[in-house]
Amino acid sequence: MVVIRGATTIEHDDKDEIRKAVRELLEQIESRNGIKESEIVSIVFSSTSDIHSYYPAKAAREAGFESCSLFSAMEPEIDGGLNLCIRVMMFIEKNVEPHHVYLRGARVLRKDLTAKINVAIDGPAGSGKSTIAKALSRDYKILYLDTGAMYRACALKALNEGADVEDEAALCDLMRELSLAIEYVDGVQHTILDGKDVSEEIRSPRVSMAASTVSKYPCVRMKMVEKQREIAGKMSCVLDGRDIGSYVLPDAEFKFFLTASPEVRARRRYDELVAKGYEVDFEELKREIERRDLQDSTREFSPLRKADDAVVIDTSEMSIDEVLKEIKKTMQEKI
Ligand code: DC
Repeated sequence: MVVIRGATTIEHDDKDEIRKAVRELLEQIESRNGIKESEIVSIVFSSTSDIHSYYPAKAAREAGFESCSLFSAMEPEIDGGLNLCIRVMMFIEKNVEPHHVYLRGARVLRKDLTAKINVAIDGPAGSGKSTIAKALSRDYKILYLDTGAMYRACALKALNEGADVEDEAALCDLMRELSLAIEYVDGVQHTILDGKDVSEEIRSPRVSMAASTVSKYPCVRMKMVEKQREIAGKMSCVLDGRDIGSYVLPDAEFKFFLTASPEVRARRRYDELVAKGYEVDFEELKREIERRDLQDSTREFSPLRKADDAVVIDTSEMSIDEVLKEIKKTMQEKI
């Protein structure tokens, strides 16, 4: 006996959509595995708890799967799981190498079966990029690359060496001897500068401003962009930054541009820094964010810019969950 697995998603909890999606999924499983209906022993469905309008098993019966046993069950709600998703296990009496079939939004469940996807999330500081990118990478089980951390590491290098961050020639020299590695421990990015884990050190407000300054220079950017493209070229990942959709990965499958009012962004950064034990003045932080925004968006080479085909989301009045839902909905519609 061989088990073939599959899944698909629907857009609304609607009887006809369920029928159509189930038929399509079963037909695809049959055709991709060269199965005849008489070889199917049973089909077991499970659907997410937001699907009530129809039993997938009933839809299968109507689609002509009459001789095998059919069963449907509802899954408990899982935080961060896919919405409106129907999964299937088909047991067949035939000795074949199974081809599992994941359609529509459910393609993200099996990165191994689908093409590589890159998700670009750009936007100014405090727009929610990293929180959302981390959550997406966790839910879709793909890598998260925080590109800001790379520019921060360059800035820290300059500060440690006592270099003037406004001195382009000195920075270009420093870049030649930069040893920067991005490593992952339990899915969490660690930024290693000259052999030392600087993941926390690069978060200080001093480094934030310096990162914005050093990232103006083409010699810094080119070096970082090359690394980013190399990582994104090898595997599915979510990258957050300023120019991912517009410059680093213009062909990324998904592009989002997050924004929020300066007040809200400053408040988020303030809360984040205070929680980490930094002493910060809210008004000063707000001014710093505004200075960074200006510098990041007016630099000559590859500035902070929305890609023409990016989906813009203003997160000012939205919870993390709401932003995440909207992004996933957009992705599921497009896949
Ligand atoms: O996202 P962040 O705050 O960690 O980024 C720090 C700085 O790095 C930001 O002010 C501008 C720069 N940066 C960039 O120029 N391009 C990127 N892709 C990411 C960050």
